[in-house]
Amino acid sequence: MKKILVTGGLGYIGSHTAVELLQKEFEVIIIDNLSNSTINVLEGITNITKKPPTFERLDLREKAQVEDFFLRNKDISGIIHFAASKAVGESVENPLLYYENNVNTLIYLLQECKAHSIPNFIFSSSCTVYGEPDSLPITENAPIKAAMSPYGNTKQISEEIIADLCAVHPEMNAIALRYFNPIGAHHSAEIGELPLGVPQNLVPFITQTAAGIRKELSVFGNDYPTPDGSCVRDYIHVVDLAKAHVIALQRLLSGKNESNLEIFNVGTGRGSSVMEVVHAFEKVTKQKLNYKFVGRRPGDVVSVYADTQKANDVLGWKAEKSMEDALSSSWKWEKKIRNIES
Ligand code: NAD
Ligand code: WQD
Repeated sequence: MKKILVTGGLGYIGSHTAVELLQKEFEVIIIDNLSNSTINVLEGITNITKKPPTFERLDLREKAQVEDFFLRNKDISGIIHFAASKAVGESVENPLLYYENNVNTLIYLLQECKAHSIPNFIFSSSCTVYGEPDSLPITENAPIKAAMSPYGNTKQISEEIIADLCAVHPEMNAIALRYFNPIGAHHSAEIGELPLGVPQNLVPFITQTAAGIRKELSVFGNDYPTPDGSCVRDYIHVVDLAKAHVIALQRLLSGKNESNLEIFNVGTGRGSSVMEVVHAFEKVTKQKLNYKFVGRRPGDVVSVYADTQKANDVLGWKAEKSMEDALSSSWKWEKKIRNIES
């Protein structure tokens, strides 16, 4: 069994990916500092898979500890690097935290890949690297625009660091996956998204509103040049996204990659407006959601959704789950963590 290091593996996307890996032929070792997750997630992963992953609480900013970890774990075949800070607004308030946590940690990990000849590396990138697209759907060849936040900049810089390394180390193989908007939870409701404080993202705000934790959803803008005036995004079920990582990893492990750095959009290819998400949630849960229209949120792009042809044809991956699947799983998860009876 190949041993895979999943950094940030107790977080939202990492935990779902750990499940998919454990359900295939992989052994999983998770590193997480619990800065945006809880140790209970480990139990959720184990309940689903009946195979406990190895867990090490470690802060990837601690270079000496990272070095020590790799000295103790010489049999790692690949790394999926999720650990990062991801709140766009917080990155504007505290840019150094973001550059340290997102860029330094990447460098430390890549240094260990070099030192211990670990050739396979998968990186969590983001559609945020595209900024406001010139045309839709957006392909991987679309120009990278000036980042709209320090967070977005860390993803652009990270991709450049990986590209520079791969250019001079042909033995290194990397895939950067540019995620669109992950939503949903595992159908078992054993794991899901756990936002700290007031959610910044749409779906957790919706489910918390339906659960009575928030009074109403503020819909940021109804005067955009879109069919219903609200912003359009590509919402992808987190389990579909997790599966893309397993397929990307298998591609690297079997040497099927066409170059030593490949980049794929991971989305559904469908754009949905904020109001379409609200109405789909109401339909799935058979209840009205309290919402009001407010002004635009600074920094929001109008419309972005993926061209997924490269991921479909080259990676051999396609999103399978619907928006309704995703929203009902998010709602099931929210009810479980709030002890709400069905
Ligand atoms: P998350 O916050 O749920 O998970 C990240 C995990 O990494 C957390 O468990 C956190 O405790 C851990 N972590 C953070 N810093 C660490 C450090 N220094 N050392 C060890 N562990 C650390 O986030 P997520 O939504 O699962 O996102 C995973 C990755 O995907 C991130 O790189 C994020 O930028 C990227 N991404 C997320 C989205 C999204 O909308 N969720 C979209 C595009 C890209
Ligand atoms: C979605 C839509 C909001 C909350 C962010 C990051 C991006 C990526 C994914 C990591 C927008 C609207 C939201 C609310 C609303 N993350 N909205 N009321 O902004 O597309 O992307 O997460 O890489 O980098 O920027 O996602 O979920 O915040 O917003 O009306 O209370 O919902 O305006 O149109 P976003 P989001």
